[in-house]
Amino acid sequence: MIEVKDTLQNQVPNVTFKNVSFSWPGKKELVINNCSFSINKSGLWMIVGKNGSGKSTLLKLINGLLKPSNGVISNLANVGMVFQNPDHQILMPNCRSELLLNINKKLSRKDITNKINFALNKVGLDGFDKRPIHTLSGGQKQRLTIACSLISDKNFVLLDEPTALLDSNSQLKVLDIIKNLTNNKRNPFTALWITHRLEELSYSDAVAEMKNGSLSDWEKPLNFHYN
Ligand SMILES: Nc1ncnc2c1ncn2[C@@H]1O[C@H](COP(=O)(O)OP(=O)(O)OP(=O)(O)O)[C@@H](O)[C@H]1O
Ligand SMILES: [Mg+2]
Repeated sequence: MIEVKDTLQNQVPNVTFKNVSFSWPGKKELVINNCSFSINKSGLWMIVGKNGSGKSTLLKLINGLLKPSNGVISNLANVGMVFQNPDHQILMPNCRSELLLNINKKLSRKDITNKINFALNKVGLDGFDKRPIHTLSGGQKQRLTIACSLISDKNFVLLDEPTALLDSNSQLKVLDIIKNLTNNKRNPFTALWITHRLEELSYSDAVAEMKNGSLSDWEKPLNFHYN
């Protein structure tokens, strides 16, 4: 039997960009331009930036969907993704089958059930395993996509404006869940959260701005100024 506490991978990710540039095929303009930064501590990291400044492109470079045109990316992390619209991400008809898609199939039935219950509990969806997806609210669907990252033992989750479609109640729930996961000292968990909602920044451990194709230095939210 696995220990349920081991279901969050007990490792801190280490992601480093060194002078990374990227342009989309057929375009001259560098969307990412000589960008350098690292994320090597657990916690909640946030990025803000104007529309089209390259935030989503940066996430695709981190998770390896895109390759840099120049520079070096080193990525020691098990990366999961949460998108703005959970309907673009959820594939299966109910919570259990969606979670099963993401789980290590070699586990015993009992361990699988334990992990499903653990992941649902962590995102405040106790007892939702048999629930059809179409009966979930937007916030509940978003929490399910976070549970999918947990159940597949990701240690670094990239969230691309995960609360943009949510009302303020659901927004806070999702933010609280991620905050609690990243605060857990025994099972360090790391999240990189992209947002346009400036009121969310105070939850972060570090904030940076995407501007002119590059990421600013990480700042504590109290010291961070955005204009
Ligand atoms: N698949 C693609 N092919 C070509 N160009 C793209 C593609 N995806 C994005 N771009 C361009 O790359 C630039 C950066 O886009 P990106 O989506 O990374 O910005 P963003 O900061 O995430 O914006 P938003 O806040 O609106 O989500 C934009 O000019 C966009 O048009
Ligand atoms: Mg984007």
